[in-house]
Amino acid sequence: MASEKLILGIESSCDETSAAVVRAGTGVLSNVVASQLVHVNYGGVVPELASREHLRAILPVVREAMQRAGVTYDQLDAVAVTEGPGLAGALLVGITFAKTLAWARQLPLIAVNHLEGHIHAVLMEAGAQFAEASPLLALVVSGGHTHLYLAENQNGVWRYRNVGRTVDDAAGEAYDKAAKLLGLPYPGGPWMDALASHGDPRAVPFAFAQIKQKVTGKIAPKLAGVEQEQRFDFSFSGIKTAVRRYTEVHHMGSRIAEREQSLRARGLLTAKPSDAEAFAAVLATFDTQTLDLIASFQHSVTGNLTRNTLAAAAHFGAQAIVVSGGVAANRELRTRLTEAADKAKLPIAFPQIALSTDNAAMIAAAAWPKLLTRSFAPETLEPTPQLRLG
Ligand code: KG4
Ligand code: ZN
Repeated sequence: MASEKLILGIESSCDETSAAVVRAGTGVLSNVVASQLVHVNYGGVVPELASREHLRAILPVVREAMQRAGVTYDQLDAVAVTEGPGLAGALLVGITFAKTLAWARQLPLIAVNHLEGHIHAVLMEAGAQFAEASPLLALVVSGGHTHLYLAENQNGVWRYRNVGRTVDDAAGEAYDKAAKLLGLPYPGGPWMDALASHGDPRAVPFAFAQIKQKVTGKIAPKLAGVEQEQRFDFSFSGIKTAVRRYTEVHHMGSRIAEREQSLRARGLLTAKPSDAEAFAAVLATFDTQTLDLIASFQHSVTGNLTRNTLAAAAHFGAQAIVVSGGVAANRELRTRLTEAADKAKLPIAFPQIALSTDNAAMIAAAAWPKLLTRSFAPETLEPTPQLRLG
């Protein structure tokens, strides 16, 4: 029966090796995510290390996903894998594994765009109101991406059109870079989020440059009722530079170096802000001025994301908004977007935290409509590191 169908999803585009078994696009039987810790010491993802770690993790992660789901390979109906965008060597590990498994078990192979996966991480839980909204506006905001898409389900096939993207850094990247400038552990986004509530968000007035709206003139895939070509692009490299300049002007260098050293010495560089004891220890290294800087940074970034998203929704007459990607976990962003959407009378949905960062359940969920329409990948599937959506 179609509704019983099981898809094994595999995700390896960046620094998470993940496998999940999902029934009929929404029933998550398992979702195993192995996060690579090796990058912590480098303050960013090192591509060569990522590939090696994926190679090490892929088999145990898939086995665990199958075991937790309580299914055998014979019960699977398809294997879905991230085709791109992402790191070439990292993607290659997942794709090679998925191709081999599909070939050995005579299963259809489904290629999924990672960004489409992020959108389906929300749709799989959000209900029909969102899946049927036409058009739907999706904000995908993570360490590697900041995109706005118009999405629409046309006879079972999802179509997307990009109406905004960052012209430089992704929002999560700006978070991580600003955090690194302040001597915080990697990834810094969750730390900045947790520390922001201890500072004054209006202390430092960061300004966002208007991105010139370019009319591309190129023929984009048409969505019903959507003709205009106006863009809602983002830019986040300016605010990172402004944070650096602020630390220089206010002679914060030695405080930052001291913090970094002390966190390293106490083994706190691998800690998570959700660990209350670690958070208290990190918070104690901060002064009011730096906490105000963090709160102001967050206020500025979340304000910019909120304004641009709501402006795009109004311009294109979106019927609902979905927000996904690692930064969708940000508390202030959730609050502000929810308030703005409520004011505009637009339904808005976020993924649960576990599905907001990279995971394979979202890949299996995005593959479900493709299984129904028998949209399969060739045996020759290869990674596409720069793959675009819409
Ligand atoms: O989606 P994801 O796991 O990986 C990418 O595809 O990039 O997103 C990770 C990004 C990192 O930049 C991380 O700092 C950021 O999401 N992030 C956050 C929060 N949680 C994760 N940024 C701000 N606030 C958060 N609470
Ligand atoms: Zn991602």
